[in-house]
Amino acid sequence: MTDKRVLLIIGGGISAYKSLLLIRLLAKRNIKTQAILTKAGREFVTELSVGSLTGEKVFTDLFSLSDEAEMGHIELSRSADLVVVVPATADLMAKAANGLANDLASTTLLATDKRVMYVPAMNVRMWEHPAVKRNVQTLRNDGALFVDPEEGEMACGEFGFGRMAEPETIADKIETALKDVTTLDGLKGGGLAGKHVLITAGPTREPIDPVRYLSNCSSGKQGYAIAKACAALGAKVSLVSGPVCLDAPTGIETINIESAREMLDACESNLPCDVFISVAAVADWRPTKMVTTKIKKNGDAIAPLALEENPDILKTICVHKKRPALVVGFAAETNDVIAHAQAKLVKKSCDWIVANDVSGDVMGGDNNTMIVISKNDVDTWPTLTKTQCAQRLAEKIAHHFLEN
Ligand code: C5P
Repeated sequence: MTDKRVLLIIGGGISAYKSLLLIRLLAKRNIKTQAILTKAGREFVTELSVGSLTGEKVFTDLFSLSDEAEMGHIELSRSADLVVVVPATADLMAKAANGLANDLASTTLLATDKRVMYVPAMNVRMWEHPAVKRNVQTLRNDGALFVDPEEGEMACGEFGFGRMAEPETIADKIETALKDVTTLDGLKGGGLAGKHVLITAGPTREPIDPVRYLSNCSSGKQGYAIAKACAALGAKVSLVSGPVCLDAPTGIETINIESAREMLDACESNLPCDVFISVAAVADWRPTKMVTTKIKKNGDAIAPLALEENPDILKTICVHKKRPALVVGFAAETNDVIAHAQAKLVKKSCDWIVANDVSGDVMGGDNNTMIVISKNDVDTWPTLTKTQCAQRLAEKIAHHFLEN
């Protein structure tokens, strides 16, 4: 790999010394580095040692006129292929998670359009503090990568998780992340530019009477994340959403519906499109008849509640005369995940099925483990945040169009 550049943000922690070794290891792998040294970082390593190893100017102060004249913080934040915060202190992560920008490091993290990797290092109690956990989860949800701390003895004498990963491990992770960036280079300018992506998300509600309905516990998080990830790659996105507690994503046409039949109507009226991604947890049945006045507990009891099957939106779009070039279904399974999903791929006639095991807390949770199944392939991904899953899926779709 040549010509890859990493911007290191060196925070203030005893493990800052390991960043010096990291610079050398990266150089051996032909990865160039430039560094920002925070005020606290300068208490642990010097500008001279960092600059001697990177062979580049070290940036330190947001308000330095000469720094801004040479390379402004906006330009600096975009100059590399990857930004790595090493060590990532609790303070730096708290600032980044909350969008604070009061020095060069935090401003750069807010201004960058590149992936950011955090390499945390701190005392075990700090690492386990709910505030730190919250900030780490927020950053993960925003798509950041992490090289998690290891268990061991710390400089403060305590033992546990919090010790920064070793430079070799960090260098390996950086190399892998840069390979992803390299693949993404083919997607520059938006790998889905010019494509119209139609996505369903969330649950549907099937009315029983004016105040009651049948539904499920889908949060819509995964569908919304996929909509945002496709839009970030330049697609025109139409999101058909059931009732969820999420804000409508900016720049994405969101059509709010309640029932499965309304969802189907909204999908059909958004054809033609290039990609249909059916993430919604559509209610399988609806009450045969909606009672127009509130059913009373006494007297007009409705047992048994007569149900009929809802239209299968995914199947309908798959056999539609305006069938999109790529149709992606989802299969939430609790057992024999791959076998059930493969059967669903055939039954629904879609191109890909994303299988996920929902026996844990996937529904409503922030993480997902996806297996993307096509006729000839089973692509198993590690457990990632829903944001990361969405980005990976959007990238896979973009590659599909590049190759076909
Ligand atoms: O049949 P099952 O509900 O397991 O299939 C899941 C897939 O089918 C999901 O992609 C879901 O969005 C879609 N689906 C649909 N209409 C239905 C039921 C499921 O589009 N009525």
